[in-house]
Amino acid sequence: MEASNGFKRKVVTGSAGYVLEDVPHLSDYIPDLPNYPSPLQDNPAYSGVKQYFVNVDDTVAQQIVVHKDSPRGIHFRRAGPRQRVYFEPDDVLACIVTCGGTCPGLNTVIREIVCGLYHMYGVKKVLGIDGGYRGFSARNTITLTPKVVNDIHKRGGTFIGTSRGGHDTSKIVDSIQDRGINQVYIIGGDGTQRGASFIFEEIRRRGLKVAVAGIPKTIDNDIPVIDKSFGFDTAVEEAQRAINAARVEAASVENGIGVVKLMGRYCGFLAMYATLAGRDVDCCLIPESPFYLEGPGGLFEYIEKRLTENGHFVLVMIAETVLSMDKLDASGNIQDAGLWISQKIKDHFSLPNKMVVNLRYGDPTYMIRAVPSNASDNVYCTLLAQSAVHGVMAGYTGFTVGPVNGRQSYIPFYRIIEREKKVVITERMWARVLSSTNQPSFLSAKDVIVEDKREEEPPT
Ligand code: F6P
Repeated sequence: MEASNGFKRKVVTGSAGYVLEDVPHLSDYIPDLPNYPSPLQDNPAYSGVKQYFVNVDDTVAQQIVVHKDSPRGIHFRRAGPRQRVYFEPDDVLACIVTCGGTCPGLNTVIREIVCGLYHMYGVKKVLGIDGGYRGFSARNTITLTPKVVNDIHKRGGTFIGTSRGGHDTSKIVDSIQDRGINQVYIIGGDGTQRGASFIFEEIRRRGLKVAVAGIPKTIDNDIPVIDKSFGFDTAVEEAQRAINAARVEAASVENGIGVVKLMGRYCGFLAMYATLAGRDVDCCLIPESPFYLEGPGGLFEYIEKRLTENGHFVLVMIAETVLSMDKLDASGNIQDAGLWISQKIKDHFSLPNKMVVNLRYGDPTYMIRAVPSNASDNVYCTLLAQSAVHGVMAGYTGFTVGPVNGRQSYIPFYRIIEREKKVVITERMWARVLSSTNQPSFLSAKDVIVEDKREEEPPT
């Protein structure tokens, strides 16, 4: 069966509308593949665990808000250790690659894959691919051992380097084959996971015993199906410091306006959650919710009203929010949305008979992305890394790992890359933001009706 994006689907159906969107297994295309008892059963750390292997039939429901006659719907394979593994520890040569922008927690995921392979499965040969996908065609790799990665989780960025682009599927698979690599852990956002699905397809086409697992990474939180992406929590927490600074600056001067630009590419999760967490924000602008500046109900009118009431105003926005802005400035440079809206506000309030304002603009985008992960993200990254290792050792491949309704699951690549997750402005989370800031919705009734037709993520 084929998915909407042309990738092969492995579907198992059951009673009452039960559907398992299953993940590929090496034995799907390699006949008579030997398997072995899992070394985990001799691992002292697990000796006390009552049931340390996941039942191979365990699956996780995607839709948990249901009615009594609702079909059981889509399910994914539950992540976790299996009794049988398809790799002998000494035969394994694993590699890890990180691609795209940095993100809090990258180093924790790297560390926990290396330590998970070593301590849980006795796998000692792990390579770091240097600097993203293009690193596969470089001669050097980085030898990763528990000692080498011991404290890297305390640092931001990625220990093995990253880059964007440079993806040449057949060259990458040639390199994997030439080096004798048989486990590939790919950490990156939607573009990187798409690249991972091409690598998996090419490996399957060549009939190679190489397992490919993706770990979804982005501070934008725009990866569908999974509850949230690692590093997002840390980014929301770190954004608080920038919002507090904007609040302090704005409140310390007459008619102070603090503008904070956050990352998010084309979705507003970071601004939305940072606004809700901070409670100091008067207006949150996200790409999914159109807004306008001039006239009744516009941003300028709202700023004036708030400044009259409180004497200060804090605006938080996603970098890529201002879709209506000309992308290029007069000399053809990419316009910075934060600078653009700040200038528009300054221009408006420098008009005759307008109140004098003092605007402070903050761009903490890369500062937020470059910090090490916080405690909850460190735990989350550990669960992701260990789940990926368990899945690969058990012979699963062509999957991305992630929590679905709180349960670590194996999700086929095609579901992760079929679209970007966006804030649904007809859902309660955005309504919570509007009720916390009391900002105008900038939307007419007609706009709202149009929105409802869009497919919705599981309600938050
Ligand atoms: O996708 C992650 C992200 O941080 C986006 O939020 C941001 O728009 C983009 O990357 C920045 O890209 P670059 O790392 O190329 O500056």
